[in-house]
Amino acid sequence: MTDTSRSISVAVIGGGMFFDDIIGQSFKDLMRGGIAGTLTSIGMSHLAADVADVQIDLCAVGTRSESSGTAGRIVDWFAGEFSDRQIEACYGETVWNDIIQRHQPDVLFVATPDHLHTDPIMAALEAGCDVITEKPLCLTCEEADRIIAAARQHDRIVAVDMHKRYDPFVRDMMMNSEAKYGPINRVRTVLEEPLEVSTEIFAWAEQSNPFTYVGCHWLDVVHHYLGVKPRSVFATGQKTLLEHWDEHHVEVARRLGVEPSSFKRQHAIRTWDSIDVAVTYDNGMRGDYSNNWINPAEFEGAVNQEIELYGIYGRGMVDQQDRGFREAIIGDGSRTRNPSFGGRFQHQGGELEIFGYGKASIAAGLLAIIRRRVLGESLESLDETYPTAASQRNVVQVAEAAEVVAQKNFEHFTAGRGTPVTALLSDTTIEILEPGT
Ligand SMILES: NC(=O)c1ccc[n+]([C@@H]2O[C@H](COP(=O)([O-])OP(=O)(O)OC[C@H]3O[C@@H](n4cnc5c(N)ncnc54)[C@H](O)[C@@H]3O)[C@@H](O)[C@H]2O)c1
Repeated sequence: MTDTSRSISVAVIGGGMFFDDIIGQSFKDLMRGGIAGTLTSIGMSHLAADVADVQIDLCAVGTRSESSGTAGRIVDWFAGEFSDRQIEACYGETVWNDIIQRHQPDVLFVATPDHLHTDPIMAALEAGCDVITEKPLCLTCEEADRIIAAARQHDRIVAVDMHKRYDPFVRDMMMNSEAKYGPINRVRTVLEEPLEVSTEIFAWAEQSNPFTYVGCHWLDVVHHYLGVKPRSVFATGQKTLLEHWDEHHVEVARRLGVEPSSFKRQHAIRTWDSIDVAVTYDNGMRGDYSNNWINPAEFEGAVNQEIELYGIYGRGMVDQQDRGFREAIIGDGSRTRNPSFGGRFQHQGGELEIFGYGKASIAAGLLAIIRRRVLGESLESLDETYPTAASQRNVVQVAEAAEVVAQKNFEHFTAGRGTPVTALLSDTTIEILEPGT
């Protein structure tokens, strides 16, 4: 542990899709050049001189299965550039315990599947580490409360990677929305992920759902920028494709002109295709959140995401496909691109770097940790500077309520009784309102 030194050691657990997309390259940049260069993206460049000499190092990478060898491949990839730094590849079901004990990192970066965030976060806090975790913070309010209490008790930071707060388009609209559009009556959001996420990439799709997995992003943006609290939740969802993937993958294969046996998963995948959630907030505003993870690969963008605000004096919308970068390539079709999330560039005389709001969000958490550990600032004074665990309490609350309400409505609908279930939320409780109970 290096509380008083000017270096920060980071251990990462999880080395999957998101590590490849954003986390890995971000840490290469941070190890090479420190954090100062990323600070403009989070409006903190006035601190650049104070933190410029803080050295950031990965000390360990942990993934589950040694036979897959993911952590070892990541360590080799880092060694190609940082041959003088020691990074250990570790494996196991609870690999974080070994890593914390052996390396005593300053920071545990949690990039394991959605249902495997709480245990490593709690272990890290109890060992005195700060934490940066992938979203969602966790799956239930009970877990969130334990994490928030432990962070306070141990005087440690738990920063959550909520990158849409740092998307310059979204941030610009949200920060000025009430001044320009007046009181907001309704927010409408969409986030649709490609089919391969639920059928090929995530071994853990059955332990999460498309709303918990990505809906949390827009919930965070709305709650953070508009300062609203959720008071009731209505949700319904569909289980048409994935629950019957054992049949549908054959038709999908036929349409693609490939053998069904070429699909990684050919069995039923017991999770939702899509979930639509309506939240009513304490100011009467309605939020509509539509999420799925079955968007065809042929869709023009990597994902389909949009947010629209309807105020009484005006309205605004950010649609990812409208950012203006469109290309058509033989074999790839016509595509829209969003390099403002995780674009790479290498200027003459420079190294390959990642830029964009994917990295900005990680920098926000890491800067808070550096300010606490190296500059000696207090936890409370840093609270509004990064997405805290406490800020996720009502994001988790809506996700937890929505899963229960959607499932109950699914059962009522199947039994011919419509969709009568809602949830009533207070600051601390979720009450399920179900006729006949
Ligand atoms: N911020 C974002 O926009 C964003 C985008 C994608 C994913 N995510 C989040 O990141 C997390 C990881 O997602 P992903 O896309 O990398 O998933 P993935 O399925 O591609 O990878 C999961 C990784 O976790 C590892 N793992 C599984 N069980 C483990 C265990 N017990 N101990 C250690 N490692 C274990 C696997 O080996 C794998 O490397 C999820 O919570 C997801 O919601 C965030």
